[in-house]
Amino acid sequence: MSIFRTKSIEASMASSQEAEHQLKKSLSALDLTVFGIGVIIGAGIFTLTGRAARDYAGPSIALSFIVGAIVCGLAAMCYAEFASTVPISGSAYTFSYATLGEIIAWIIGWDLLLELMLGASVVAQGWSQYLVTLLKQLGIVWPDSVGPGSHFDLPAFLLVVALTLLVAKGIKESMRVNLVLVGVKLFIVLFVIIAGISYVNTANWSPFIPPSQPGATSEGLATPLIQVLTGSTPASFGVLGIMAGAAVVFFAYIGFDVVATTAEEAKNPQRDLPRGIIGSLIICTILYVATTLVITGMVNYKDVDPKAALATAFTTVGQDGFATLVSAGAVAGLTTVVMTLMIGATRVTFAMSRDNLIPEKLGRTNPKTGTPVRLTLIIGSVVALIASLTPIGKLEEMVNIGTLTAFMLVSIAIPILRKRRPDLKRSFKVPGNPIVPWLSALACFYLVLNLSIETWIRFVVWMAIGFIIYFTYSRHHSKLATGEPEAGIEGTPQMIRDR
Ligand code: ALA
Repeated sequence: MSIFRTKSIEASMASSQEAEHQLKKSLSALDLTVFGIGVIIGAGIFTLTGRAARDYAGPSIALSFIVGAIVCGLAAMCYAEFASTVPISGSAYTFSYATLGEIIAWIIGWDLLLELMLGASVVAQGWSQYLVTLLKQLGIVWPDSVGPGSHFDLPAFLLVVALTLLVAKGIKESMRVNLVLVGVKLFIVLFVIIAGISYVNTANWSPFIPPSQPGATSEGLATPLIQVLTGSTPASFGVLGIMAGAAVVFFAYIGFDVVATTAEEAKNPQRDLPRGIIGSLIICTILYVATTLVITGMVNYKDVDPKAALATAFTTVGQDGFATLVSAGAVAGLTTVVMTLMIGATRVTFAMSRDNLIPEKLGRTNPKTGTPVRLTLIIGSVVALIASLTPIGKLEEMVNIGTLTAFMLVSIAIPILRKRRPDLKRSFKVPGNPIVPWLSALACFYLVLNLSIETWIRFVVWMAIGFIIYFTYSRHHSKLATGEPEAGIEGTPQMIRDR
């Protein structure tokens, strides 16, 4: 049996229909946009901005965000076309199983796991940093020995444990809270922009693109791969700094692709998914660029706080009360990101276990809760350990490389599916096929090259583990290989259905 065998789109659609409990189709374009914003705005803007501005791009970090938005915009169109053609949950994994074949679907599923599980861990660490900042502003000192950046990040651990229990239990209520928290988050970001404008000192923007300099931050294994390949001297800032910054702040956009996982719950997926995906991306881009301009205008990029840039910018200008408000908003807002990324991880593994690429029994839903409890607990435990034990700043790039690889493969799949299945109804089409999908893949590839060598090494190790699992287990057990019928798992997770 070929490792490139495909599961037909009709079979994927049928397995989602067959399920005893179909997902409730209740989400509108607005709901999807809100959902998207809820996942997208998180640790990226609240914490990474500071580090990327200080180490890579200075005020021109705003340009890094624009570069990131262009790359994501291209990929978002490819996601939108897929989601409008194959409205089944499981996102890129399902799309690629139908087009590029099982091994590629496995690679994408494995990459998505990296994105979602490590993403949840990074945001939990960002949450912990803001929690400690908030407590300090309220006069409470959290012990350094169990704080962010220590050997054991207790707040991040506790957050993930609490959210895992919540997700396992069913999250009907929390999804309502989600809406409120997204409102709080949007308010805080707008607040930073509006309240911060009056403190902008335009001198801080000059030079807007700091001259390229040999960077202590980009030597050895931390050097972006492209600089080694092209033989250029490792450098920070300048145009290369903008690109390296874009590869890092790309993290801030991650999440629009998670909107595609809600495909089975959208009222009119063909029309509304593209709107939700592209709409949330546009709104976040505008907010991000405005925020970074304000922050680098308030504080010289050399003094930007790499941990909690937004709140500290207000402390720097003597507005401690504002800083407390921003920290409180960040703590509230980041919670939903961690939760949604964890749900995304259970959705992807659920889809993979439905196809028996990972043991089907792990994905069984618990009759009491209606959620895939085992998968949720496994994912929650892994995320809790990673979030609490890994040093801060080591994981984001791994998330980015996983996501960018998935985006690249999804982009390549668009022209392939157009050729193989011209008959399928596509409510949204990427303009300029095949040039635009190819451009999208190239743009993702370029950003991936801008990630550091150590990230590449870790990624290769991660993929090697994935291949070992695929060739020793999944390849032989997959339902396509054994010819078993689909939908061996009862129903679909309650958590999404109840939303
Ligand atoms: N985009 C999400 C964040 O910035 C993952 O936290």
